[in-house]
Amino acid sequence: MPSVNRQITLATRPVGMPQGADFRLIETPIPRPGAGEALIRVLYLSLDPYLRARMNGALSSARPVQVGEVMAGEAVGEVIESNDPRMGRGDIVEGILGWQEYAVAHAKALRKIDPQAFPVTTSLYVLGMPGLAAYFGLLDICHPAPGETVLISGAAGAVGSLVGQIARIKRCRAVGIAGSPEKVHYLTAELGFDGAVNYNQTPDLYAALKEICSNGIDVYFDTVGGPITDTAMRLINNHARISVCGQSSQYNAAQPDVGPRWLSQLIVRQARVEGFLVSQFSSRFEEGLRQLATWLREKKLHYREEIVEGLPRAPEAFLDMLRGRHTGKLMVKIGA
Ligand SMILES: NC(=O)c1ccc[n+]([C@@H]2O[C@H](COP(=O)([O-])OP(=O)(O)OC[C@H]3O[C@@H](n4cnc5c(N)ncnc54)[C@H](OP(=O)(O)O)[C@@H]3O)[C@@H](O)[C@H]2O)c1
Repeated sequence: MPSVNRQITLATRPVGMPQGADFRLIETPIPRPGAGEALIRVLYLSLDPYLRARMNGALSSARPVQVGEVMAGEAVGEVIESNDPRMGRGDIVEGILGWQEYAVAHAKALRKIDPQAFPVTTSLYVLGMPGLAAYFGLLDICHPAPGETVLISGAAGAVGSLVGQIARIKRCRAVGIAGSPEKVHYLTAELGFDGAVNYNQTPDLYAALKEICSNGIDVYFDTVGGPITDTAMRLINNHARISVCGQSSQYNAAQPDVGPRWLSQLIVRQARVEGFLVSQFSSRFEEGLRQLATWLREKKLHYREEIVEGLPRAPEAFLDMLRGRHTGKLMVKIGA
């Protein structure tokens, strides 16, 4: 085992879009686990948009990462040493291990993964936080009924691509909004979406959505917010349900963005908007994971992973993710 642990820390708090200089690669000694803790060799690190909010000083849904601290983030790894009876050397675990090659974590905060059942990377995607957000954020917040039209923004991203497929499983019409022709093709040709619109090359997004959602929108699953959501809100049906999962278009805004005021549309349409945090469903994670695993086994869910090699490339990959340059789930391979 090497004696040095490479870590990526937050060097400065970004204003607006982060830059490479906001991160620092450092070397520290490999930490030792205390009582009830395990030492883990990180295999794959998940890059998620919510980490952008944790780089800010203000409290969002989680404690901010302090300047000089290791960047936070979910990861999957192999237990090297354990001081807790719940796990032993060689076990594969998932948890908030951070942007580093070796991490010490409390055993009770780790989830054991069966590497024989599915590839370990699925614990960061379909069988992890993004999958659970798609599952509960669509089914529990929106209760989609067969025949209804479900519109998804950020549809080719990790969460959105699963939401559309779950909507199809529930016999709804799934329509996606994404930012390139390749992403539109991925959604319709590979994932079975009923339609998709490239918002970057559509001169009139309202007209395009009106055509493709000819019966209006019953469920809107929002991951990006901003002008896309302002447009979608003009097409909602009576009793529409809107699940606010993310607001990716706002995460790098230095100033709050002001758009059309569409709350009166909720009155006219007797519609409901509800935000959620996946953690609010933690007591039902087992149920969600069981169902997602069943759909995976039945090949009803398909997924794409983009894997970048090596911890030093994590900041550059993270910045690319904030620019929407990937399809599906973005991860960094750290250990072999
Ligand atoms: N509430 C929760 O508990 C919870 C849990 C998980 C995730 N989330 C949130 O859900 C959202 C999606 O997460 P994810 O893991 O699926 O992220 P992701 O894989 O990065 O996908 C998000 C997609 O959104 C699009 N996007 C980014 N900026 C945009 C902009 N300015 N305008 C329009 N589209 C933009 C990009 O695709 P295009 O090329 O198509 O623009 C990007 O690929 C994030 O906001 C995340 O924070 C919330």
